[in-house]
Amino acid sequence: MTQTFLQEIKEELQKGATKKDHPFRYFTLATVGLDQVARLRTIVMRKFEDDLRITFFTDSRSKKMIHLQENKKVGLLFYNAKNLMQIRIEGIAKVMGDAETKEKYWKGMSKSSKKEYTAASAPGTTMASQGQIEYLEDHDHFCVVEITPFKIEYLKLQRPPHIRVRYSWEVDRWEGEFIVP
Ligand SMILES: Cc1cc2nc3c(=O)[nH]c(=O)nc-3n(C[C@H](O)[C@H](O)[C@H](O)COP(=O)(O)O)c2cc1C
Repeated sequence: MTQTFLQEIKEELQKGATKKDHPFRYFTLATVGLDQVARLRTIVMRKFEDDLRITFFTDSRSKKMIHLQENKKVGLLFYNAKNLMQIRIEGIAKVMGDAETKEKYWKGMSKSSKKEYTAASAPGTTMASQGQIEYLEDHDHFCVVEITPFKIEYLKLQRPPHIRVRYSWEVDRWEGEFIVP
């Protein structure tokens, strides 16, 4: 019975990765590094796979990457205000450092998107004034990160009772259980 909701989660996340106007295109990514403070930010989901792996792009010099070196466990939050559906994911992040993966995504990107990853100074660096950004000609800091979930929580608010289901990855399958909303 819980499998029905897992299927719905997959379908919605797949739409998020492929449809530009779907609310799941954007998610909130939480990381916690050695500073022990949860850091949250909006991220674009670039790829979703049927085994629930999620891919995003970032700048290799960003604070989230420092956090990921310190602690690979991350939290993801998706919310669709139209049907009041929330998906919460806990997973392990892997930085895909191989040239083949990078090239696969890089070649499909527009010139302006590529430029985002060529700022001479790292994201978060103080600037003398707004817009004073220098760009590198021959180098970039584009980076691909893949998240493998180990826990998923589905919540759908509707005419009570609401539906809340928790899934845990158990060796080779997702085990689901209904929980009190
Ligand atoms: C709509 C929107 C989409 C964003 N997408 C991404 C993204 O895909 N990758 C990314 O690294 N930052 C993205 N950002 C910027 C992040 O929210 C964040 O400001 C930036 O990555 C720096 O985060 P950090 O200092 O915690 O590493 C996006 C911001 C917004 C508002």
